[in-house]
Amino acid sequence: MKKIFKSFLAAIAASLAFAVAPAAFAAGGPVALDAIPAQKLSDRAAMQNGAKTFMSYCLGCHGLSAMRYSRLADIGMTEEQIKAVMPPGAKPGDYIRTSLNRAEAKDWFGAAPPDLSVTARSRSSHSGAGTDWIYTFLRTYYEDASRPTGWNNKTYVGVGMPHVLWDAQKSKSPAEFDSMVGDLAAFLNYVAEPAQFSRKTIGMVVMAFLAIFFVLAWRLNKVYWKNIK
Ligand code: HEC
Repeated sequence: MKKIFKSFLAAIAASLAFAVAPAAFAAGGPVALDAIPAQKLSDRAAMQNGAKTFMSYCLGCHGLSAMRYSRLADIGMTEEQIKAVMPPGAKPGDYIRTSLNRAEAKDWFGAAPPDLSVTARSRSSHSGAGTDWIYTFLRTYYEDASRPTGWNNKTYVGVGMPHVLWDAQKSKSPAEFDSMVGDLAAFLNYVAEPAQFSRKTIGMVVMAFLAIFFVLAWRLNKVYWKNIK
């Protein structure tokens, strides 16, 4: 019995060591990620705001080619609001694509700007969600004369992307800028998984159904066995 207890303790110690190891590893990374304010992730007004910021500041270089403009209706944007953020010549049924030439961009920045459709998921790691990575990344630019763009980033050291939100950061208070970036990250989080709202609603409906069905089945079981027992 003692032996079993000892090996049980050893197993617990080993699993604890595994659980702690990634956290220790993450702490050694370049920068700890700031978590995006959680309420932004389900706030449609924030996402709409983020969509507008994306179209004016990011679409010049990055596409969201897994999504059509018309799908912005899912975060509550009206047809007029969608048309107002679309670049000239685009149709509501078009995928959100950048007109930037990738080969040229690679020459300019040293790296082609990637499509950001799923970045909120692909950047997830032990340090935090991909959305937190984006939220932190856009807020950790600093001036660095040794870089070709004049900018470096604490979250993505040596990044090819310049600080495109510089004018916005300059003209806003830190809290306003954080909020603007939070809205943008919340929008990219939505784009990375557009079905997340309906998925959550369906989940609730299924749980409610199971709860009601459980009570029904239990009562029915009692009725069936009443005369036999
Ligand atoms: C002038 C062109 C340009 C603009 C405008 C631009 N980016 Fe970038 N972005 C880049 C380039 C180039 C890279 C690739 C950098 C690298 O890998 O070194 C990049 C990389 C990124 C990455 C990292 C992707 C990854 O997983 O590696 C994110 C996130 C990102 N940009 C978000 C944005 C957002 C949000 C905006 C709008 C506020 C924006 N970018 C505007 C050029 C741009």
